[in-house]
Amino acid sequence: MRTVDSVTDVRALAARWRAQGDDIALVPTMGNLHAGHLALVTAARLHCRRVIATVFVNPTQFGPTEDFSRYPRTPDEDSAQLVESGCDALFLPSSDEVYPLGIAQAVRVEVPGLSDILCGRFRPGHFAGVASVVLRLLNMVEPDVVCLGNKDFQQVLVIRRLVADLSLRARVVPVPTVRAEDGVALSSRNQFLDARQRRAAGSIAQTLGHMREARLAG
Ligand code: PAF
Repeated sequence: MRTVDSVTDVRALAARWRAQGDDIALVPTMGNLHAGHLALVTAARLHCRRVIATVFVNPTQFGPTEDFSRYPRTPDEDSAQLVESGCDALFLPSSDEVYPLGIAQAVRVEVPGLSDILCGRFRPGHFAGVASVVLRLLNMVEPDVVCLGNKDFQQVLVIRRLVADLSLRARVVPVPTVRAEDGVALSSRNQFLDARQRRAAGSIAQTLGHMREARLAG
């Protein structure tokens, strides 16, 4: 697996693959990878000959009281897992590489209508941060496909709208959620839960599952 950390290098790599006729899938992540992320890489493989994963903890999608500084960062383990999963390249940019003018001067995109409902009601600016960084990554790599987990369903909708409205070339491929045995969706943030909270999360997941089954049964 190739590891690159600059926009110049990731562009050169993608251009070389495109020139030899290979299509490219992008798997954007914030790292601390688990089986849910690896399922994105597996799905990406089914769609394209080449897979580029990105690991970047994007500061602009965290609110001032959120967990940016303590978000788990495990680049060596991430890299080993990506090699194992058959990923072709890891793009590991610094903040300066992604936001060359700095965060305060960074151009942002808004996706109105979808960003301030549901989760977005409680996380002002979050989806603008997500849309802005994904737009930057799509612009850097110019992939044919971008794979996103259905775990963050609102994020999938936001990125789909971004891609459609800005006529970006990538096709958004949503990938099914990977869950633990008790039904909780795998997430890097699950490690912040204590035992009681983890049990409660399991009950919520199971109750939602029962409600879904009841709804489908009429
Ligand atoms: O889902 C995530 O991990 C992030 O929101 C993403 C899409 C990588 C953008 O930073």
